[in-house]
Amino acid sequence: MITVSVCVGSSCHIKGAPQVIEKLQQLIVDYDLWSQVELKGVFCMERCTEGVTIAIDGEVFSAVDACAAEELFRTGVLVPLGLGGSGDDELV
Ligand code: FES
Repeated sequence: MITVSVCVGSSCHIKGAPQVIEKLQQLIVDYDLWSQVELKGVFCMERCTEGVTIAIDGEVFSAVDACAAEELFRTGVLVPLGLGGSGDDELV
């Protein structure tokens, strides 16, 4: 199980956390990974000035928008699960 945490604190919310969550949910659905990926909201990760903050299995990333979230999903979720991540993958 890979855990993807998205900060839902007020600063990250204002800066676009809902759009990041929506993108991550879409990717999990597209790849049918609900049994392998836990997506959860967490409160302030103390990087409020750095943009939307997420963590993948404890590794923290800041200034994440929907596009960056997709790339982080590829490198932090798809590749570890053996699903490639080259950007040309076919959806399962
Ligand atoms: S509100 Fe997200 S890091 Fe503080």
